[in-house]
This record gives sequence, C-alpha cells and structure tokens, in this order.
Amino acid sequence: MKLETISEESIKMLVDRFYLKIRADSALGPVFNDAIGHSDEQWGPHLNRMYDFWSSIMLTSGRYHGNPMQKHKNLPVFEKSLFERWLDLFEKTAHEIHPEHIARHYTEKSRRIAENLKANLYTRGNEEQIR
Ligand code: HEM
Repeated sequence: MKLETISEESIKMLVDRFYLKIRADSALGPVFNDAIGHSDEQWGPHLNRMYDFWSSIMLTSGRYHGNPMQKHKNLPVFEKSLFERWLDLFEKTAHEIHPEHIARHYTEKSRRIAENLKANLYTRGNEEQIR
C-alpha cells in the first residue's frame, strides 16, 4: 500500500531505498562510493544528512544545516548527464512509496534543486566540467 502522507519515517524509507539504487548503479555508484566509501558504516552519516535534508525540504523541519552546493563543488568532476540518471532513480523511488501527487511533489523539488546545482557546477569558469 502506498503512503498517503510524508513523515520522518516515510522520508527515511525513501532515502534508504534511493541510495540502495544509487550504490548499485553502474554509473552513479562509483561517484558516490569514491566520495563516501563502500561500507554501510561509511554510508551512515550521509544517509543521516539526507534524512535531515529531505525533512527540511518536505516537512520544513529545519533539521538540515549544510551547504550542498559546496559539497558537490568539492567532488571530482562528474558528467553532467548523470543528473538525469539521478533524477530518474529518485522519481522511480518516490513512485514506489507514494501515490502520484506526493511523488510529483518530490520530483518537482528534486528537479529544481538539480537545476540549481547544475547551473552552478557547469558554468563559465568551470568550462572543463561541461561535457
Ligand atoms: C548526478 C547527480 C549527483 C551526484 C553525482 C551527487 C553526489 C553526491 C555525493 C558523492 C555526495 C556526498 C559528498 C560527501 O559527503 O563528501 C552528495 C551529497 C549531497 N547531495 Fe548530491 N549528488 C547529485 C545530485 C544531487 C541532487 C539532485 C540533490 C538534491 C535534490 C543532492 C543533494 C545532496 C545533499 C543534500 C548532500 C549532502 C551535503 C552535506 O553533506 O551536507 N545531490 N552528493
């Protein structure tokens, strides 16, 4: 049965499922595993931050205090096209857990944030990053 409300529990479920897909993905997996590590212990802090992040976005809980833009800028260069793959997996996960209207809410938020990240990561001055 799909969840009709967004709660801290549903966010945790979504984040856990999403990053299992990410870790198993042939293109995205290496980018994440190189930055975070391969073990569940190494992934724990990232998952905790992502629970806080989505809780702040979807429930305006104010739990997340971080700087995603800087974090992504600090990563080794990765292909811009990976964003579409990231967004597809995220959308798929949201639909597994929630009915259409809630999944769409997640999808819209994620696409908007991705546009901001991309605009900043692949701009003039970072020409070598544009692929
Ligand atoms: C291809 C696309 C993306 C890649 C490869 C990517 C990769 C990563 C990696 C490797 C980290 C961990 C960095 C670290 O701990 O050192 C990270 C953190 C994070 N990502 Fe992404 N990301 C992508 C897209 C997105 C999008 C679209 C969002 C939001 C909708 C997002 C939100 C975050 C947040 C909130 C963090 C935690 C930052 C912190 O530590 O406070 N990412 N990302």
